[in-house]
Amino acid sequence: MTDRPTLDRAARDILKANDRGGYTVPNGHVYPFQWNWDSAFVALGFATYNRSRAWEEIETLFSAQWDDGFMAHIVFWQDDEGYFPGPKVWGTNKKIATSGITQPPVAASVVRWLYDSATCDSEKERAAALYPKLAAWHDWFEKYRDPDGKGLVVSVHPWESGRDNSAEWDEPAAAVDISNVDPYVRRDTSHLDASMRPTKLDYDRYLAMVQYGRDCGWDHKKIATEGPFRVVDVSMTMILLRANRDLLALAEALGHSEDAEKLKARIANAEKGVSWLWNEDAGAFCSRDMITGKSSGMVTSASFLAFYAGVANDVQRQALASHLERIGNKLTYMVPSLDPDHEEFDTIRYWRGPVWAVVNFLVSTGLADAGLADWAERVRKDTGALIEKTGFYEAFCPTTGRGTGGDDFSWTAAMWLHWAGKSKAGNVT
Ligand code: GLC
Repeated sequence: MTDRPTLDRAARDILKANDRGGYTVPNGHVYPFQWNWDSAFVALGFATYNRSRAWEEIETLFSAQWDDGFMAHIVFWQDDEGYFPGPKVWGTNKKIATSGITQPPVAASVVRWLYDSATCDSEKERAAALYPKLAAWHDWFEKYRDPDGKGLVVSVHPWESGRDNSAEWDEPAAAVDISNVDPYVRRDTSHLDASMRPTKLDYDRYLAMVQYGRDCGWDHKKIATEGPFRVVDVSMTMILLRANRDLLALAEALGHSEDAEKLKARIANAEKGVSWLWNEDAGAFCSRDMITGKSSGMVTSASFLAFYAGVANDVQRQALASHLERIGNKLTYMVPSLDPDHEEFDTIRYWRGPVWAVVNFLVSTGLADAGLADWAERVRKDTGALIEKTGFYEAFCPTTGRGTGGDDFSWTAAMWLHWAGKSKAGNVT
């Protein structure tokens, strides 16, 4: 157990050590480039002591935006042999090397928070300059990732969801042909314990999906309508819905009235569309395979993002609250990435049990908005307790609090500074 001021300093030191000048790497060894949603969370950490640097993190990320509005999940600002798959494998052929898939769009929500807490006009100008880029990315989702026009988000690779190795992807990924995967050498297992990482079979499938995208020249329309993996991801869908609400607030504040009308319609459409993800038997929102129509039926930490998106009706709210009750009674630390009663639950393997500080932040924000203050606070306190006990790990075992994945992780440090390390919950988003 370490005291708060010491942890505050340690968190700032991590952000400093992982700062590569204008952008921050998630972790210097395992993830040596700029990751999309990591940078959005990291900006919230910087904002606690250097607001300009917070803006810069997002500006750098958006400087790698493609002309069609697409935002990649990784920007390869420099070479690093320690990571696989690198820019050559992705083969996106852009001036700034990036991957070819995206990640959960939390950036608009962070920019809205920065805007609302701005301390001077120049910050508002920075928000105004970012606004069209955020809007273009959200338009991209509508154009390329919502083939049925229901306000949902189709994920074309498990890595897009940010919940890379979730058991929700097992069945859809099993249908992916891996017979033509080029030979490769993994790097993640040379930095981290293999028992915490995805298996070789999972990795072959990941690579087959990357090769499919590269072979069709990253034609996103084709990938989302004909590709081998197309799953409506509950986390991306909920996060985009919330981000559209935050973009709407920005549009109104910045005088983009036409956009505001368009966003209102988009939000109303998504509020209806998400019902496709509700699984009556599971009593939860679950990801659903677009190819087979099958729901995963799994309660994951992403199921609770329904509160963050503001979509749970009374019956759904009751059902989700009883899952919280059941899981919260069973585990020391909330919120596990998979239901502990599921057979695939594993306390240390990637996204199959461990707790992530960033997901907890989103879940807790939603719970607070929905008036479930006690649960919001439990999630926040558990996150703080994990960091106090173990340090700034990538993720944590929900029973013992042991750190899993990489240490000195930027987004965990940022979440401590912005939220989990505060003495009481503030106005977090
Ligand atoms: C892993 C996580 C993903 C994150 C990345 C960098 O791939 O699953 O969510 O963005 O690491 O931290």
